[in-house]
Amino acid sequence: MLREKSLLMIPGPTPIPPQVAAAMTQPMINHRGEAFSALFEEVTEGLKKVFRTGQPVYVFPGAGSGGWEAALVNTLNPGDTVLSVSVGDFGERWFRVATKLGFAVERLQFEPGEAADPERIAEKLAEDREKKIKAVLVQHNETSTGVTNDVRTIARVVREHGALIMVDSVSGLGALPLEMDEWGLDVVLTGAQKALMCPPGLSMIAFSERARAAAETNTMPRFYWDLKAAQNSLLKWQTPYTPAISLLYAMRAALGLLEAETLEGSWARHRLMGEMCRAGVKAMGLTLLARNEATASNSVTAVVSPVDPKRLRKVAREQFGVQLAGGQADLADKIFRIGHLGYVVPGDVLQALAATEMALAQCGYEVQVGRAVAAAQQVWLDAQQS
Ligand SMILES: Cc1ncc(COP(=O)(O)O)c(C=O)c1O
Repeated sequence: MLREKSLLMIPGPTPIPPQVAAAMTQPMINHRGEAFSALFEEVTEGLKKVFRTGQPVYVFPGAGSGGWEAALVNTLNPGDTVLSVSVGDFGERWFRVATKLGFAVERLQFEPGEAADPERIAEKLAEDREKKIKAVLVQHNETSTGVTNDVRTIARVVREHGALIMVDSVSGLGALPLEMDEWGLDVVLTGAQKALMCPPGLSMIAFSERARAAAETNTMPRFYWDLKAAQNSLLKWQTPYTPAISLLYAMRAALGLLEAETLEGSWARHRLMGEMCRAGVKAMGLTLLARNEATASNSVTAVVSPVDPKRLRKVAREQFGVQLAGGQADLADKIFRIGHLGYVVPGDVLQALAATEMALAQCGYEVQVGRAVAAAQQVWLDAQQS
């Protein structure tokens, strides 16, 4: 088998378009020169359109996790209380970041597969009569469970209380609808390696006017993630320290592709792929981890595995050339995940379902091969005809 040709269907890092790979081979430039400023301006202005904001988008060299820290240290004061709303492993990780930074963290946890219930958030905030809670942290899309939260409604509830609403959209932005300004989100953060079709290594974050005002006076110590330093440099289309120039070339190319497709077009493509994947999974007789299908993610599908998921993934990878993702933390032995975000098209979903069916058969699960693919094909066909 030609092992080099393998389909990467994990929820990040995602495959990258050839134009994006090629863009990174450009010669290095002076990061204080005009060519760099032009590049940085183009990228940050392009990102504003993807974030749907009129606010600046700050681009840091780093992983998505850096955005969690940047959100907190720029807007809060030492010892402040925050509310962590968690529906999975990434929610837990942001909780741990806030705890390690010394904030008083209150928690609202939901079972794996559940979405955050805005009413429970409203109840929790209503208990906070002294308005101690300064920020609410929530995932737009919980990659570990394949569930999308209703960030728009959550934001409304949080703004009624007055806290800042901070949204991790690492596996949402670009793939799933998000309107930073219209929904009144105070902080939105993401990474390059998911729907934005780039390699890992860029962390992007935007702050509302309210959040930027908080950053003017707050006293959390910070250096690397300092918004004020980034803003001062941005006035010259520069960065406070050496930027990841090759990745910015990649991002410029990826944003060009996204602009050609249109953001709405990308949202529609992801919705179609999500629907195809769920139809296929159900046709195999399998259960989605998402308890309510209306909250199932269109960028990653988490499936309760009827066989050992590690074996399933190994067979899918080694015999059928498709890489699926496993579960995280407590879900490691229970689920597998099919990522369908970024530089992924409906045909890739068909291939992933075909490989999953065959791998399940190889693992002894009774499955009639072709059913999942047929169900997904029908969804695709119906979408063409409607
Ligand atoms: C929802 C979510 N938040 C945060 C992260 C962390 O990003 P990174 O691994 O780039 O630090 C991820 C990574 O998969 C994610 O899916």
